[in-house]
Amino acid sequence: MKNSKRSNVDPFIVMDVMESARIAEKNGKHIIHMEVGQPGTPAPKLAKKFITKEISNNNLGYTVTLGLPALRERISKLYGDWYNIDLNPNRVVITVGSSGAFILSFTSLFNIGDRVGIAAPGYPSYRQILKSQDLIPVDIQTEIQNKFQPIPEDIKKNNLNGILVASPANPTGSMVDKETLKNLINTAHENNVSFISDEIYHGIQYEKKSHNSARNNR
Ligand SMILES: Cc1ncc(COP(=O)(O)O)c(C=O)c1O
Repeated sequence: MKNSKRSNVDPFIVMDVMESARIAEKNGKHIIHMEVGQPGTPAPKLAKKFITKEISNNNLGYTVTLGLPALRERISKLYGDWYNIDLNPNRVVITVGSSGAFILSFTSLFNIGDRVGIAAPGYPSYRQILKSQDLIPVDIQTEIQNKFQPIPEDIKKNNLNGILVASPANPTGSMVDKETLKNLINTAHENNVSFISDEIYHGIQYEKKSHNSARNNR
C-alpha cells in the first residue's frame, strides 16, 4: 500500500504499551495498568439513562451536523455557570473528543505549511496531529518560572500562524492565571495568530479554578 508522506508520524507510544499489556494479559500475566489516564468516575447517571433509552428505542441515526441543539444549549449554560460567560450556543460544536476538535479547527484555521506553536514539554500527540495535516509544529521551549507555559514573546518571535495552549496542561498540570491568559490571547490577536485553547482538563483542578478563553458573545 502506498502511504502519504504526512501520515508518516511517530507512534503514540502509550498505545503500543497498552497493546503489549493486552497481549501479556491474554497470556495470563498480571498487569498493573499505569499507561493511560482512564476516567476515574463513571458516566453521569442521567447520561446513562438517556443513552440506554435512545439505544433501546433504536434511535441510532445521524444527529444534526453540529451536535444536538439541547446539548449545545446546555454546554453554553455550563460556561455561564462555571465562568460567568454568556456564550452563544451557536458557537458550541460537538466533536468526538478533543482530537476530533483539533482536526476540525486546524482544518478551518490553517493552510498547508502553516506554523503552530506548542509548548515543550507538552502533550505529544499535538505534534503528530499537526504533521498529519501538513502543518508545522513549532516547539516552544518553556521555562519553570513561566509554569512551563508559553509567554507573549514566544508568539511574537516564532513567526507563527497559530498557538495551542493547554491549561491545565499535560504533562505538567500547570495552569495560566487569568491575566496571563488574557495577555497571550491579546498578543495572538494583535499578531494575527490563531489562539487554540485546549481546555480538556477543566474541572480537574485543586486549589484554583482554571480560566476560560471564550468571550461573551451572543
Ligand atoms: C492535553 C490533552 N489534550 C488532548 C488530549 C486528547 O483528548 P481526546 O481523547 O479527547 O482526543 C489529551 C489526552 O491525553 C491531552 O492530555
